[in-house]
Amino acid sequence: MIVPTSLTSQHTVVPLPFAAGSLDGISERMISSHHENNYGGAVKNLNRVEQELAQTTPDTPPLVVAALRERELTFRNSKTLHEAYFANLGGDGRRSGAIEAALAQAYGTTARWEQHMRATGMGLGGGSGWAIVALELDTGALRTVWSGHHTQGLATSLPLLVMDMYEHSYQMDFGAGVARYIDAFFANVNWDEVNRRLERAQRLSATLRDA
Ligand SMILES: [Fe+2]
Repeated sequence: MIVPTSLTSQHTVVPLPFAAGSLDGISERMISSHHENNYGGAVKNLNRVEQELAQTTPDTPPLVVAALRERELTFRNSKTLHEAYFANLGGDGRRSGAIEAALAQAYGTTARWEQHMRATGMGLGGGSGWAIVALELDTGALRTVWSGHHTQGLATSLPLLVMDMYEHSYQMDFGAGVARYIDAFFANVNWDEVNRRLERAQRLSATLRDA
């Protein structure tokens, strides 16, 4: 029997890749709540919406399917981006390796890039969305991307560094202090993970552009 892999509804929560109390300036309470409630909720809801989609028939009204598809995309991207976000935290915040050179090449200096990234995050303050450094696969270029919510992303890109700007990422510790959250985010970035993603994305991009 063929197992329909797109209809399995078996997504599971990936544990935090660091001790919840180990971050610098981001509380255990906030990161645990974020992981369990916001990310965990997205995983549960993705399973639920996939179950609903598996039961649709040719008679299901198109507007019902459209609503389910919209929710599916929201929860799937929320899952993907949250996993990337948590996995690029837990470090010492010191940039090193290939990403340092790539950002300097893309923006003149890494300080200039950081200014862009912080400003992108600040622009999302009080709202909801993501600030992302992505590698655009069809050009091989680094892009700093604004995403107003889970479903706005740069087509054909892979995220390298993901900063959650939904209020649930900072409200508990920082209130409306978005800039202080961004400082704390930068202090905890795991740049080794970002370098691993960069290497994989560059390899994939080169393969695509050679094809
Ligand atoms: Fe989040």
